[in-house]
Amino acid sequence: MGTFAVQIAKSFGAEVTGVCSTKNVDLVRSIGADHVIDYTQEDFTRTGQTYDLIFDSAGYRSLSDCKRVLGSNGILVMCGAGDGRSSVRIMARMLKALLVSRFGRQKFVSFIAKRNKDDLVVLKELVEAGKITPVIDRRYPLSEVPEAIRYLEEGHARGKVVITV
Ligand SMILES: NC(=O)c1ccc[n+]([C@@H]2O[C@H](COP(=O)([O-])OP(=O)(O)OC[C@H]3O[C@@H](n4cnc5c(N)ncnc54)[C@H](OP(=O)(O)O)[C@@H]3O)[C@@H](O)[C@H]2O)c1
Repeated sequence: MGTFAVQIAKSFGAEVTGVCSTKNVDLVRSIGADHVIDYTQEDFTRTGQTYDLIFDSAGYRSLSDCKRVLGSNGILVMCGAGDGRSSVRIMARMLKALLVSRFGRQKFVSFIAKRNKDDLVVLKELVEAGKITPVIDRRYPLSEVPEAIRYLEEGHARGKVVITV
């Protein structure tokens, strides 16, 4: 999801900072990120830099950590489920976001994708205009779907994993 988020944000003229691990730094820069932070080397919540919008497609950092680097009118969009193991943790984070958003100008929103034709048309046009290039990490034949899922569950896919039919 992160690889699409970087390219979509760039296509709308945003200055983009990508956060990823060392092996993905060149990839994230190659798809248009203006700045890249390697989270194995640097804590993006302690750089002193603040952001107008944080699109959290990972979900590993606490709200208070993210709040530290959110601009005074900033928005945190939470869509990553971290390791996804604790639905209680995910629910607690969403509830806390609702509460924190009531007090202050910063907004903390949980985002669940809803497929709709209008958004798909926008994505199609961005792909056709060459503003989005899907990053494909691996291809698996249909017979190897279990391997594909196992690889995805490691949580470090470099772009999309494709099943060829
Ligand atoms: N809200 C929604 O509608 C929605 C829709 C689809 C997916 N999701 C959720 O969003 C998350 C990402 O989905 P995806 O399809 O992009 O997953 P993915 O293809 O498995 O990618 C996971 C990414 O997370 C990065 N990552 C892992 N640990 C990290 C950390 N500690 N800090 C920063 N980045 C880290 C990995 O990059 P590195 O290898 O560089 O660490 C990897 O690129 C998942 O939790 C998924 O369940 C939500």
